[in-house]
Amino acid sequence: MKKHNGNKAADTKGWFGHWSNVYDRTLGSISFHRGLLDLVVRNARVKNGDKILDLGCGTGLLSLKCLQKARCAVMGADYSKEMLGILKDKIKKLKLSDRISLCLMDAASLKFKDRTFDKVVSSVALHHLTDKLPALKRIRRVLKPGGLFIIGEVDMDATGKHTDTKRLKRMLRVLEQEWIPALKDAGVEAFSTMFDNGKKHILNQGEYGLSLKQWARLCRKAGFVRVLVKRVPRHKVFGIVVAKKP
Ligand SMILES: C[S@@+](CC[C@H](N)C(=O)[O-])C[C@H]1O[C@@H](n2cnc3c(N)ncnc32)[C@H](O)[C@@H]1O
Repeated sequence: MKKHNGNKAADTKGWFGHWSNVYDRTLGSISFHRGLLDLVVRNARVKNGDKILDLGCGTGLLSLKCLQKARCAVMGADYSKEMLGILKDKIKKLKLSDRISLCLMDAASLKFKDRTFDKVVSSVALHHLTDKLPALKRIRRVLKPGGLFIIGEVDMDATGKHTDTKRLKRMLRVLEQEWIPALKDAGVEAFSTMFDNGKKHILNQGEYGLSLKQWARLCRKAGFVRVLVKRVPRHKVFGIVVAKKP
């Protein structure tokens, strides 16, 4: 029997590589995901001239929404070259190469200079970081003073051991809010992908999701101020944390 040992980052990276080809028609086609991205962009108050970092940009759905909103510049960072490959093709097709750059990078070790970005945005990516507090401190470091960090996540406390049935029940209550819209909005393939995705998150204890309240608490600990939680209308298990660098 396969041993679940708290999945190493390499396993997750490979999993995202496999997912990349169907990402836009699975998670990327479900209503709550679009609602989440819209909420992130609205609260980032994207404006002309902004320099924005999209952490865990994947196929670029959030980056492209930022670029549509205003004449800003985006840096898309992700550790999956397959995901970035899909975004690269989109950038070429949309002739956006003067406004977006891509960086193959682990979000755990930000290689940017201090005070580089006006905004750092991220959606459904950072729960994969094992050491979240140091990562949030690095995000604060690369923001300019007064800069905003907006993280979009599922409100799911997945801390604890995968053998804990209370944790399992807690997660299943949230996961059904992903699975049902997946089937309804995007069909059987999306449901199947999201079902596998849920199982991976249940069995994974090294990379774990947090509730939005837990994310907000960590942001304050990392030195952010004016930390707020907001929820996606009609899909309340998804939401954002908005945080400001003093
Ligand atoms: C579910 S996808 C979300 C993509 C995009 N943000 C969106 O909302 O459509 C998660 C993305 O985060 C990336 N990711 C996960 N952990 C990461 C890490 N430690 N460093 C960089 N990228 C990471 C994955 O490769 C994947 O592209």
